[in-house]
Parts: sequence; C-alpha cells; structure tokens
Amino acid sequence: MASNGAVYGPFVVGTALAASNRKPSGYNVESYRFNIAQVEEDVEDWSISRASGFNGSLGGNFVDTTNVDPDIAAILASAAESPFISYDAEFECILGPSPTLQLLAGPVDRDFALEGGIYVEETNSIWFTGIGPGEAGHVVRALNLSDNTIYKPVKDNLVLRPNGGTYYRGHVYIAFWGNRTVTGGVLAIDVHTGETKTVVNNYFGLPFNSPNDVACAERPDPSSGIRRRAVFFTENDFGAPNLLNETGPAVLPSTVWRLDPDEESLQPVITRADIPYPNGVAVNLDATKLYVSDTPVSYIRGQGVGRSGSPAIYVYDLMEDLVPINKRLFSFSRSRIPDGIKVDDAGRVWSAEGEGVVVRDSGGKILGAFNDKVLLNSRDSEISNFALYGDKLLILAEERIWSVKLGQRVR
Ligand SMILES: *[C@@H]1O[C@H](CO)[C@@H](O)[C@H](O)[C@H]1NC(C)=O
Ligand SMILES: *[C@@H]1O[C@H](CO)[C@@H](O)[C@H](O)[C@H]1NC(C)=O
Ligand SMILES: *[C@@H]1O[C@H](CO)[C@@H](O)[C@H](O)[C@H]1NC(C)=O
Ligand SMILES: *[C@@H]1O[C@H](CO)[C@@H](O)[C@H](O)[C@H]1NC(C)=O
Repeated sequence: MASNGAVYGPFVVGTALAASNRKPSGYNVESYRFNIAQVEEDVEDWSISRASGFNGSLGGNFVDTTNVDPDIAAILASAAESPFISYDAEFECILGPSPTLQLLAGPVDRDFALEGGIYVEETNSIWFTGIGPGEAGHVVRALNLSDNTIYKPVKDNLVLRPNGGTYYRGHVYIAFWGNRTVTGGVLAIDVHTGETKTVVNNYFGLPFNSPNDVACAERPDPSSGIRRRAVFFTENDFGAPNLLNETGPAVLPSTVWRLDPDEESLQPVITRADIPYPNGVAVNLDATKLYVSDTPVSYIRGQGVGRSGSPAIYVYDLMEDLVPINKRLFSFSRSRIPDGIKVDDAGRVWSAEGEGVVVRDSGGKILGAFNDKVLLNSRDSEISNFALYGDKLLILAEERIWSVKLGQRVR
C-alpha cells in the first residue's frame, strides 16, 4: 500500500464508528474521499527514512499508525473510524456511490460466526461455523437471507469443530477437525436434506490433524475433452497439542491435499516445506489459479516473526489436470494473519486478515479494506471469513454478521 513510504490516497471514509454501533440495521454510509499525499514524482526523493514519518506496530492496523505530519495523522485517525478504507479508485468502483452497511445479526456469542461464509443459492442462505468452545463450536449454522433468521441446516446438527467450507453442485463441503477420538476430514452436506456424508477422513489409515478449509475446482481439459474436478483442502496441526490442543498429537505433516473424485485419488500437492501452516484455500472462477494462505503461528502466540512461516497468501497455477505448479508469493497481510480467502469473478482476491476484509487486484495490489475496527464488537474478536454473493459482501465478525451492499456484482 505504500511502496516508497508515501501513502497514496484516496481514502474513502464513511460515517463514524459511534453511529454504526448504535443503529441495529439498515443505515446508509455516506462516503467522501480525499487525497492525503501523492506519490513523489521525483525519483531522487524516493529515498525514504524509516517508514517516512509513519510510526506503527504489528499489533495495530495501518490506520493505527501515527505520522509526523499532523494532517496525515488526522486522516489516519479518521480512517480508523471508517468502515471502508480505499487505496485505489477501483475500490470505489467496487463500493459504488452509496455502499450500505447493514447489521444482520448480533451481537451474539463470541466465536458464533467465525468461519465458513458459504453462499447457497438454492436456499438463499449463507452457511457459517464457529470453532470456539461450547455448543456454538460444534454446529454449522445458516443465515436465511430472505428473512435474516438463523437456522441449523445439518440434519444431525453435530459436526465436530467445523471450520471453512465451500459450495459445489448441491452440497456444502466443510472441513472439520474432529476431536481426540473422532478423526476430522471433509464432509459433504446436501443443501436440501441436510444429510451429511464423509468425503475423506484419512490417508491410508493415517488420521488428519485439523482440516481447515476446502475449495472445489472444475475445468474442462481441452486436450482430452474430459471435465477435470478436484477438491483441495488444507490441513495443519492447529488442533494438536502445540496450539489449541483439541485433537491430540499430529500424525501427518501440514499439507494441502487434492482429492480427485473421478480418479478416486487423494494426493498431497503442497508440503509444509512450501507452506508451513496452510489455512485458507480458494480457486478462481475458471479454475486456473489456486490461492493458499499461510499462518505464522508465532505471530498468534506473540512470539514475533521468527518461528514459523509468513502472513502470506501464495498463488499457484493450476495445470489442466488441476495440479498446482509455479508457487508465487501473492501478498502479505499488514497485521495478524490472512485466513479465509475468496476470489471474485473479476479475479480480485478478498482476504480476512488483521485489518478486516482486504481486497487485492489479481496482481496483488491492495485496493481497499472493510475495517475490522468498526465491524468487530471487541478487540478480542477477529474476522476470519466472509461470503461474496451477488453485489454483496457478508462479513462474519464473530459476534456480529454484517452485509455490505456494493456498487457492482462480485460473484
Ligand atoms: C511511536 O509510537 C510509540 C507508541 O505510541 C511511541 O512510544 C513512540 O515514542 C513513537 N515513536 C516515534 C518516533 O514517534
Ligand atoms: C427463508 O425464509 C423464507 C421467508 O420466511 C422462507 O419462506 C424460507 O423457507 C426460508 N428458507 C429456509 C431454508 O429456511
Ligand atoms: C468426540 O466426539 C464424540 C462425538 O460427540 C464423543 O462421543 C467423544 O466423547 C468425543 N471425544 C472426546 C475425547 O471428547
Ligand atoms: C492437551 O490436552 C491434554 C488432555 O486434556 C492434556 O493432558 C495436555 O496436558 C494438554 N497439553 C498441552 C500442551 O496443553
């Protein structure tokens, strides 16, 4: 967002936090924008001292930085209270002239609406999961977008530690951790009947540790004319004793797995040497690219950057047989970790991370953010996932569920 230390606006700043906290639903956010600094034209001036007057920390967001220039500092302070923060004109096109922020549910319990964010067109609902302790951590829930009621779409209700998921051909696929006695894996849930079947829960008898997220890819192979399909899921040991201690000792190394339902083959495609803790996973519209977010576990534990991977999103090309190749670093999150990721129909990558929901173009440039400081009920909560549907963004903010009406169709 600031390649040479300069901040190049415009920022879009909506109404202040206080107003958005009080009104339960259905208010408009007026936005206005202004430039806070232009990129210096003169290359000679590009030698920037440490952060060019910006003073920030990893614990905060970019808008929490201060600046020696009081005008810039004032704009940052104002942006910190704005639900929408724009770094590029394209973000304003996404928002449109009158983006509307609506509270659909909450405040509810911590960890209530944490993961998932799966739009199901047939039932006009968004499915989501919680992974906190207690009952909320063990059910899949759905928000009926027709009347904003929340219901349980899974027939027997119990999915042990459900995490991320995706929709594919009449089913919601959900990655779940299981517990010390029940092995986690991937479930397919019929969106009409709520009946579940286990898609995969072991690799030749070895249990998974805590499957985290799923993405389905489908693409015709022009050379054979055959439709290729693959289910990618991420697996790491967050549930094992060294982090959350829910699932017992890890057996398999952290891996991105590829299940080919037609070949009936389960294969590891990305090792922990490439991505130490694969977390969110997403495929673009035409199934030519695979995105995977990494998790620097030491960040979460407050141990700094040295002990594990990076707060990175990586992109791979998908070959015609849907095998990922050509790993490239796509982006870093400025604070905390990139978790849930989704690719919109224009190829932009949306990511839930420390600053909220951050939107990047297909080249990795940060376009703007939906500010977690406004959307969260408390600083202990976090935004880990979201859903894109039609011209709307649904944000799972743990204790709250928000919908933002955008200025264009994104999915
Ligand atoms: C940066 O911010 C921190 C925390 O607010 C403060 O303690 C420190 O003095 C600041 N440093 C500079 C150079 O302004
Ligand atoms: C969603 O709400 C509408 C309106 O109340 C209702 O007709 C529909 O059956 C509900 N859908 C589900 C899946 O519960
Ligand atoms: C795992 O979950 C199953 C199903 O709810 C339960 O019967 C079992 O006791 C659980 N195991 C542990 C160690 O909690
Ligand atoms: C993990 O949980 C088990 C069972 O509750 C407990 O015995 C063990 O001490 C825990 N380990 C850590 C590292 O917290």
